Amino acid sequence: MKFQVPRGTQDILPEAIGNWQALEARAREVSERHGYKEIRTPIFEATELFLRGVGETTDIVTKEMYTFADKKGRSLTLRPEGTAGVMRALVEHGVAQAGRMHRLWYVGPMFRYDRPQAGRYRQFHQWGAECVGSANPNADVEIILLLVDFLASFGLEKTEVKLNSVGHPGCRPAYAEKLRAYLAPFKDALCADCKERFEKNPLRILDCKVPHDKAVAQGIPSILDSLCDECRTHFDGVRAGLDALGVPYTLDPKLVRGLDYYTKTAFEVHDTARGAQSALGGGGRYDGLIADVGGPQVPGVGFSAGIERILMALEEQGKLPVAEAPLVFVARAGGDAVEKHALALVRALRKELAVTFDFESGKSLGAQLKHADRLGAQVAVLLGEDELAAREATVKDLKTGTQEKVPIADLAAHLRGRLAPKDAR
Ligand code: HAM
Repeated sequence: MKFQVPRGTQDILPEAIGNWQALEARAREVSERHGYKEIRTPIFEATELFLRGVGETTDIVTKEMYTFADKKGRSLTLRPEGTAGVMRALVEHGVAQAGRMHRLWYVGPMFRYDRPQAGRYRQFHQWGAECVGSANPNADVEIILLLVDFLASFGLEKTEVKLNSVGHPGCRPAYAEKLRAYLAPFKDALCADCKERFEKNPLRILDCKVPHDKAVAQGIPSILDSLCDECRTHFDGVRAGLDALGVPYTLDPKLVRGLDYYTKTAFEVHDTARGAQSALGGGGRYDGLIADVGGPQVPGVGFSAGIERILMALEEQGKLPVAEAPLVFVARAGGDAVEKHALALVRALRKELAVTFDFESGKSLGAQLKHADRLGAQVAVLLGEDELAAREATVKDLKTGTQEKVPIADLAAHLRGRLAPKDAR
């Protein structure tokens, strides 16, 4: 019997893990530098949370959830996204309160039963950030910049920020009516899903991936023309904040996002080198979500980004590897005294550096260095009888072949300096 990973999931093997780890480490570092603290919530939640949070008419809820009953018959769902769970946690722990700020980030697997293809998986991973407690447009700007600056830190160039406002429950119904009135004559030409959306949630039609008649799409009224004064002022504030910092963006009045909790700002960052699955991340403001999941009226804004998609973009734009994990290989040649010192040296260096060695003693230096090469080590530390007597080791650069003698007492500091990332940010 042959087992395979479930469709739409993938193994991340040691050969690829370096890029994942580097990306996650950068996400942590950039989040913390912006004053965001990590939060970890369960991978499954009560199904009802997503019905209320994400929205009953969204594709995510109607088609894509991994829902199951546990042994007591409770309906649980593998989280399709992270925001609803984070808001549930803030409410449950009584810390979602008016006037109290929370800046939070998370990383982890999400699950959506979608048709797998390049850039779209059933288990995928997101890095996300949520800024809870402020209605100020500067919070939206901070969230957009967090994602933009993160992507820029890898040198990713072909990206575009798309920005929209989806209004709020005060002004959106009037737009929904306008949209319905415009689309009514074309209703028969809409796809089956959109016919249903037409009745239940016409804004979802703007998000439909089925290509509709171009003529229909072109004349669609812009939601930006239907914003109330409050939403308009907020949107102007977000735009002014981005403009002041020279962050380019494109207005996209059709950007409604696939989740129902958004109010006012909606945005996505796209990889302009890709046609399909080009959204590297997206988010927006959700001023009603905390109340929808049983909490007080507290505003929030956030985003999440797809780690697989960012890695794909980095690969396509020639930005991989993100950082080669520097590995030191200790090789030794000599009798018991050398063996003993070599093992002690491995242990000491491992306090600060990634270090490995060949378990078999008595192999030639050449054979050990071949092993080092296969492991991808960058540097070898060679220890022999002569070196030991002089309390030195030979440090060999495995890329260039150059070598030098370094006092054993200085070895850790020397290797740290030599292996420090050149582009440390
Ligand atoms: P989302 O747009 O559904 O938003 O997902 C965010 C990102 O996750 C997408 O831009 C994409 O990069 C990645 N992604 C989504 N689905 C898949 C998939 N099937 N395979 C691979 N990558 C995928 C949210 O999830 C919201 N929670 C964002 C948010 C946070 N809004 C406010 N706060």
